[in-house]
Amino acid sequence: MTEINPVTDLSRDGNVAIVTLNSPPVNALSANVRDGLATAFQQAKADPEVKAIVLICDGRTFIAGADISEFGGQMKGASLFDVQKEIEESPVPVVAAIHGTALGGGLEVALCAHYRVAVPSAKCGLPEVNIGLLPGAGGTQRLPRIAGVEKALEMVTSGQHVPAKQCLDMGLVDELAPEGKLKETAVAFARKCIAENKPLRKVRDNNDKLQAAKGHPEIFANFRKANARKFRGFKAPEANIQCIEAAVNSASFEEGQQAERKLFMELMMGDQSAAQRYAFFAERQANKIPDVPDDTPTIPIRKVGVIGAGTMGGGISMNFANAGIPVTVVEMKQDALDRGLKVVRGNYERSAKGGRFTMDDVEKRMGLLTGSLNLEDLKDCDLVIEAVFERMDIKKDVFARLDGVVKQGAILATNTSYLNVDEIASATKRPEYVIGLHFFSPANVMRLLEIVRGEKTSKEVIATSMKLAKTIGKVAVLVGVCPGFVGNRMLAQRTREANALVLEGAMPWDVDRVLYDFGFPMGPFAMGDLAGLDIGWVKENSRSSTIREVLCEMDRRGQKTGAGFYDYDENRNAKPSPVTEKVIADFRAKQGINPRTISDEEILERCLYPMINEGAKILEEKKAIRSSDIDTVWLNGYGWPVYRGGPMFYGDRVGLDKVLAKMTEFQGRMGDAFKPSALLEKLVADGRKFADVK
Ligand code: 3HC
Ligand code: NAI
Repeated sequence: MTEINPVTDLSRDGNVAIVTLNSPPVNALSANVRDGLATAFQQAKADPEVKAIVLICDGRTFIAGADISEFGGQMKGASLFDVQKEIEESPVPVVAAIHGTALGGGLEVALCAHYRVAVPSAKCGLPEVNIGLLPGAGGTQRLPRIAGVEKALEMVTSGQHVPAKQCLDMGLVDELAPEGKLKETAVAFARKCIAENKPLRKVRDNNDKLQAAKGHPEIFANFRKANARKFRGFKAPEANIQCIEAAVNSASFEEGQQAERKLFMELMMGDQSAAQRYAFFAERQANKIPDVPDDTPTIPIRKVGVIGAGTMGGGISMNFANAGIPVTVVEMKQDALDRGLKVVRGNYERSAKGGRFTMDDVEKRMGLLTGSLNLEDLKDCDLVIEAVFERMDIKKDVFARLDGVVKQGAILATNTSYLNVDEIASATKRPEYVIGLHFFSPANVMRLLEIVRGEKTSKEVIATSMKLAKTIGKVAVLVGVCPGFVGNRMLAQRTREANALVLEGAMPWDVDRVLYDFGFPMGPFAMGDLAGLDIGWVKENSRSSTIREVLCEMDRRGQKTGAGFYDYDENRNAKPSPVTEKVIADFRAKQGINPRTISDEEILERCLYPMINEGAKILEEKKAIRSSDIDTVWLNGYGWPVYRGGPMFYGDRVGLDKVLAKMTEFQGRMGDAFKPSALLEKLVADGRKFADVK
């Protein structure tokens, strides 16, 4: 065995050379890895005894892509193209041995090998689109040559990780190795290549599948049309499509690759990819809690209790059943319990009908859910999550009773959206075991989990909650106790301004359009109609004091009643409503407001800058650990467009001096709701950004 460099070894098994990479955590193609690979292949090829070469990785995965942290900086050492050339031009066959994931540049390296062997648990993909890029090392040119144009379009624009069996079916992988026997199988495959004198198959030379798509531009037109909604606002999907088009229409592989290179560089230098790369690292950074080290002990969670089978309780329970963890759901009355479990079953059956899993899986998951009307049934749970009505007196009563029932050492969590977790914890004799686990609706779908750390919450409980979030596939962000925590606290700013803008002269559809065009999936008024304008509305107490109240009083309670801010047709298509327009006009007249024309620019600034300012207050009060945590909340829980990186990243991009100047102007015009935060003022004075706050 020769150590080529600290991350690359070269060894021999008879006449097969084995190049082994070991660059934790994911064997990303950093300068060291590229150098090691280039040198190892050169040395292997220079050895006259070597008749085939196997490329394999140690650790949890094959190469998971280029090293994203190097992007935007000066590249050092061998280029990825140098490495690919060493492999593809090798005079002896090269076999890539894949386990874990072969992603991005990793798959692009494997596509230069003459053959590929993988274990069944392995996955291959070109996920660059998720960081605003395209596979820039020939991936868009080689993949359609193996998988065909349609499949390649799907893979590069979705970034999906394709299981090895499917890769085998599409020819991306040549042989499956038994689990745990990858090296032996790859070496045996290499020996077979030698014995049978198998050709040095180069993906780049295989044009058959491209021929099939030549002269059929409708393939691309149809694909664009079918995905227009999904790709809205993003630059990378279109660039990926153009690259596959180039693969089909170029006179040569080189010409196609040049087109790929040009588009790759444009994306790489652009704002969107910078924002998406930031979001990738922000999400991972959120797992790092300065005073809760990685080796903090955790509590095994084998059984979960959920109290309340309403909108949230049902969805929360599904997360655990999906992960194979049994859940006991407690309700007050049998009919509420039955209703809740029926909704869960309906959700599962819909997924099964959509092909996401089988009806057998539905039964398996339902089998993990046990309904009960008795809190006592939660006594041996390791974690209980309360999702009852949003009222402090009820929550305190539930927690006091739980404290008497549930075994010591178990975690007692609340799903409250706004209430003070410390006050809830004070109803128990074990506040160190109380925490907020704030799921978002629909709780089985939304990725965000705000984990709310109480004053006394123990590190063990925090570490367990962070780990548990991973188990159930959530993105966790640790936040502190304050009304609405991070997400809803900032949302309240936007809601206030959206309503104020309508009073001053904008129409709900103007506000919605501006925010939609910014990249949100929908604006606040369309969202209100979808959720139901009557959430929290009580008919008896309604005094026509807001436009929303007036609409509810008219039974315009949103989509479910066919009308809200908008009018809806039978297919739930929204159109601006003359009725709402009149309601607004009357309301303004009653308040003596003379409407004015409001520019789109003002709508955007009024909706977003107060949010950014509130984010600054949250940071200042240390309710979030870092500004990127705030962005992670907004990206995963509130539909902030990922290509704009989150509100704090956006603030840094716009320029904090500009945000401050506008907030000061608004404060002068409209009062202290716009008072700039001290942190914002200080950062501007010091010429620093949110990202610099450590
Ligand atoms: N570059 C740099 N660091 C990376 C990385 C990459 N490509 N992929 C993962 N990492 C880091 C993460 O930041 C994390 O670091 P941390 O422990 O310090 O937080 C660590 O590796 C482990 O990552 P995860 O926590 O995400 O581990 P998982 O096991 O959950 O997931 C994974 C592993 C599926 C490989 C996931 O990390 C992933 O999807 N990585 C990105 C893959 C990707 O986008 N590849 C394409 C890169 S662009 C490219 O190749 C361009 C080329 O076409 C020219
Ligand atoms: P919901 O009204 O749909 O469900 C609450 C359920 O709790 C009802 O089925 C009720 O019968 C049951 N319940 C009430 N008291 C109980 C008790 N003492 N014991 C057992 N069951 C009891 O309410 P929803 O929307 O599910 O909200 C629950 C909690 O989740 C609230 O704290 C809310 O703020 C929070 N939340 C709600 C979100 C949403 O979008 N709906 C989002 C995030 C959090």
